[in-house]
Amino acid sequence: MSAPPRRYRSQDWFDSLEYYSFARRAYLRSEGLTREAFHGKPVIGICNSWSELNHCNLNLRTVAEAVKRGVWQAGGVPLEFPTISLGEVFMKPTTMLFRNLMAMDVEESIRANPLDGVVLLCGCDKTTPAQLMGAASADLPAMVVSTGPMLSGQYRGNEIGSGTDMRKLFDQYRTGELSEEGLCEVESCAARSHGHCMVMGTASTMTSLAEALGMTLTGSAAIPAPDSRRLAIAEQTGKRIVELVNQDLKPSQILTLKAFENAITVLMALGGSTNAVVHLPAIAGRLGIEITLEDFQRISAQTPFIANIRPSGDYLMEDFYYAGGLPAVMRELLPLLHKDCITVTGKTIGENVAQAECFKRDVIRTLDQPLNKEGGTLILYGNLAPQGAVIKHTASTPELLQHRGPAFVFDNYYKMLELLNSDDLPVSENHVLVLKNGGPIGGPGFPEWGHIPMPKVLLKKGIKDMVRISDARMSGTSFGTVVLHIAPESAVGGPLAIVQNGDEIVLDAANRRIDINLPPEEIDRRLRNFVKPEPHYKRGYGKMFLEHVTQAPLGCDFDFLRAV
Ligand code: FES
Repeated sequence: MSAPPRRYRSQDWFDSLEYYSFARRAYLRSEGLTREAFHGKPVIGICNSWSELNHCNLNLRTVAEAVKRGVWQAGGVPLEFPTISLGEVFMKPTTMLFRNLMAMDVEESIRANPLDGVVLLCGCDKTTPAQLMGAASADLPAMVVSTGPMLSGQYRGNEIGSGTDMRKLFDQYRTGELSEEGLCEVESCAARSHGHCMVMGTASTMTSLAEALGMTLTGSAAIPAPDSRRLAIAEQTGKRIVELVNQDLKPSQILTLKAFENAITVLMALGGSTNAVVHLPAIAGRLGIEITLEDFQRISAQTPFIANIRPSGDYLMEDFYYAGGLPAVMRELLPLLHKDCITVTGKTIGENVAQAECFKRDVIRTLDQPLNKEGGTLILYGNLAPQGAVIKHTASTPELLQHRGPAFVFDNYYKMLELLNSDDLPVSENHVLVLKNGGPIGGPGFPEWGHIPMPKVLLKKGIKDMVRISDARMSGTSFGTVVLHIAPESAVGGPLAIVQNGDEIVLDAANRRIDINLPPEEIDRRLRNFVKPEPHYKRGYGKMFLEHVTQAPLGCDFDFLRAV
């Protein structure tokens, strides 16, 4: 049962002597509520990113109803509201262009309305960080419920992972190994339920990190979307948010530096998406907390990779949930976590996972027998990336992590697409593919182009991986020896801009370096001749984005949205 009621923020809207207070009560009653239903009770916003333009979040209307049940049971008043939603595979040029727009929508919707607390309903990749960014800035009591992952894909007796295996099968289609009919069959069974991608892609990573940060009920992240326990935890969240409001426990008390360090530890243990290296600094920046690439590197070096999930491992999110899910991972990680971080449960992280069990050790390994003794992400520096770059080495080909080879340069994504299927493209497996103009400003919007599909001419020879580098991001479902997020990006004159065909590129992951083998004076000469490309936008939101977006190491938030 909730603590005794106090004066709520929403009462400034509904319970004052001014005319508008009376008018607001009257208009709220147009929703069919009696005065007793809402008088003196906390109002809980249900921030819903449901949209038919975002298939991953399609179950959120049902989830919202379950949250409402819980809010009513606990003596609160649930009021659901929509925001922009970001459907990863539909939006062009990239959802990342609009993550900050959604964060602004969430923040201002919370701030402007008569709300005392909020339940954030997210799922697809950018919806989770956008909601956390907005809620962190608004700083009212908040909890997250996600859609949950889709059921595992099933194709001819094999489990297939959304994104990860789809890319492999599409490459087979490109080389003629898979027919048009076969591709159509894959299309029908790769994403066979609602929910977000069911590999440890960006969506599963970010919902897991929301839990690791302490913003969800324990065990929430991995429950499959169609599982009845998804709705049960939504109902429990509805009950708990009312208590959270009465306790006045806010995001700023939960999202501390220690909580972010916990989230990075979990990211590394999961072999999670490289996109978290962008989203976590952005969320932290809303609270005046600085998370640097050095933090990721330091924590990666001391955190074993223990979650055997694709694209870095073998299993899918459904298997992960049945094996014990995130609580089992976090219990294993307790020696490496700040156990005293407070969470939305009202208890500490240590208390939340103390009794968690693992039911299948091949899925969730122990710290003593990890899949890799270091975390899933390495931070690289070098004369090509003075401000840093990222590689998911657990999803790379180990022999390619030390490699030198001539550059094969694509000046932009569209030229790259034109060339990759050419039967006489002059590339060998020794080449390093280089993609320019894929960063926050050059993309624009920092699109997920960094995976750079393998050239057809090499696929036909049976070559499945080669070194690829860019200033773009990569889908969390992707894999390969791919250096990403090179900063500063080429469009603002970062050294990637000066790479020419045939220049020798050196990847030395063991020493955390990515370099171009040129004398410094030649690098300087070429940089002096750099010409900035024309801006992609001259008006509207796009113009604001180009003028205010920060580079990857700062999280690509707008400079004016970070805490002051
Ligand atoms: Fe939405 Fe993958 S497309 S999570």
